[in-house]
Amino acid sequence: MAEKVLVRPTSDPMVRSTPDPDVRVSTGIPGLDELLEGGFPTGSLITLAGRPGTGKTIFASQFLYQGARERGEPGMYVSMLEGRKAYFRNMNRLGLDLLPLEKKDLFRFLEMPTLSAEGLPAIWEEIVRNIDEAGIVRLVIDSFTAMSQAFGTQNDIRVFTHMLLGKIIGGAGCTTLMITESAPGLLGDVNPNPGMQEFIADGVVHFHLVPVAGDARVRYVEITKMRGTNHQMGPIPIDIGSRGITVRMPHIPGRK
Ligand SMILES: Nc1ncnc2c1ncn2[C@@H]1O[C@H](COP(=O)(O)OP(=O)(O)OP(=O)(O)O)[C@@H](O)[C@H]1O
Ligand SMILES: [Mg+2]
Repeated sequence: MAEKVLVRPTSDPMVRSTPDPDVRVSTGIPGLDELLEGGFPTGSLITLAGRPGTGKTIFASQFLYQGARERGEPGMYVSMLEGRKAYFRNMNRLGLDLLPLEKKDLFRFLEMPTLSAEGLPAIWEEIVRNIDEAGIVRLVIDSFTAMSQAFGTQNDIRVFTHMLLGKIIGGAGCTTLMITESAPGLLGDVNPNPGMQEFIADGVVHFHLVPVAGDARVRYVEITKMRGTNHQMGPIPIDIGSRGITVRMPHIPGRK
């Protein structure tokens, strides 16, 4: 299969080309791209939703690591929850050595302070400045939940997110993963009342950790939405091991 070539970004946002969603960005998760017609649509906004400890940070970091290391695509992790030291240490334990990539300016970690509504524009300015400066084409925001606590109303969230993420970041060709903490509910259930972030996103990936017989737990992800993509439906079993997240023996109907 011929490999599609991503258009390289420039540091000037005015001359960046419009992203082509037919060109795919690898998820960085072994075994997952095949279930997504090659990966996430370029420039799309993807929500990663799940309860604590379900693998959202690891997934998002593999996405950035793979892009930077294998494609030379600059990525940035914006963290409102986890500090720099703990983050680098945790990811290093999973084989994601991000420091050398940071030295080459292919990876940036932006630690954001506790948010207040007054501080949001400044924070967004800082994110956009970094995107332009480093030519970021893969972005992770951890988390939408932390950010949305600074908003007054649901409508504020919708307008702000649509404008900034949709127009500025998406328009610049930056594929964005936005992490959302799921409200506690029935284990393994997809939230029957999806939040704003699921409506505005181009794609939604849910993360689950469910008890099975005895003390065992099974991890899986479920893609409930991916605009313009014939994607796998239903649970996709995953493992988290010393090399991070991998898809476990995917069963693809109609494929070998
Ligand atoms: N080396 C490892 N081997 C196996 N499992 C691991 C390993 N490292 C981490 N994990 C699992 O991954 C989980 C953490 O994943 P991650 O940090 O991506 O979760 P998260 O969804 O981002 O959680 P939170 O919402 O709390 O930030 C741990 O709770 C643990 O179960
Ligand atoms: Mg996390």
